[in-house]
Amino acid sequence: MSLDQLRAWIPPGGPEDALAGQVIPERIPRHVAIIMDGNGRWAAQRHLPRVEGHRAGIDAVRDTVETSARLGLDVLTLYAFSVENWKRPKTEVSVLMSLLRRYLRLELDTLLRNNIRFTAIGRPNELPEDVYHELLQAEARTSRNTGMRFNIALNYGGRAEIVDAARRAIEAGVSPSSLDEARFSEFLYTAGQPDPDLLIRTSGEMRVSNFLLWQIAYAEIWVTDTLWPDFRCQHLLEAVIAYQKRDRRYGGIVSVPVAAGAK
Ligand code: FPP
Repeated sequence: MSLDQLRAWIPPGGPEDALAGQVIPERIPRHVAIIMDGNGRWAAQRHLPRVEGHRAGIDAVRDTVETSARLGLDVLTLYAFSVENWKRPKTEVSVLMSLLRRYLRLELDTLLRNNIRFTAIGRPNELPEDVYHELLQAEARTSRNTGMRFNIALNYGGRAEIVDAARRAIEAGVSPSSLDEARFSEFLYTAGQPDPDLLIRTSGEMRVSNFLLWQIAYAEIWVTDTLWPDFRCQHLLEAVIAYQKRDRRYGGIVSVPVAAGAK
């Protein structure tokens, strides 16, 4: 898809349209990763139970996925459930699992219509069986799609991913002398995908929270005070515009044009 397709989709003359007009088509990030945070605070501000924040967060997920696909991202990765999130109350975990299942059921047609390929990254096999089954179904049904790759990080931890990759490399018989960064990254959950160019975190927290630790080595970070349930197309476009103004040097002194892989 392309910026033109995004502009055809958003209301003409509104704030999103004005922002879309500022996006430089040649410098769209290839991969955007998002730490969705602030659902609990969103609910607390409204005197609602925490789970209502997660429920409202689904609308933000839907909007972000559709905006990203139309914008022409190669990859969108959303951090939905970390390996540490099992410490939350059982009822909250179970609502999160049922929201995820429901999202996959209701949104599969949208994913197919938008040519989106869906993948779960993390240790999804340790999730409840019915959720895991739904994830496998969504992966299988979208596996031939050639548009944006949509990763949901589930039961995900950055350190766990590095340990899993090391185990896989050993199992594959990789010799220590042939192991370098490029070879190692072939064993990560995101093998074959570009690293995130842009990492967004909502709700104002300045942490990476064990998310894509290997892959974000050179990502540009953009933090917004907006709480995840309020995050929409407009905020994603603001992040992309800010990203396009960054000077990426990858540790050198010469500026590298942002996102060489833009469509
Ligand atoms: C962080 O907010 C959010 C989460 C741990 C879960 C995110 C999940 C969703 C948006 C719904 C399911 C996702 C998909 C992809 C269908 P928090 O609870 O830590 O908020 P707080 O910091 O304000 O307490």
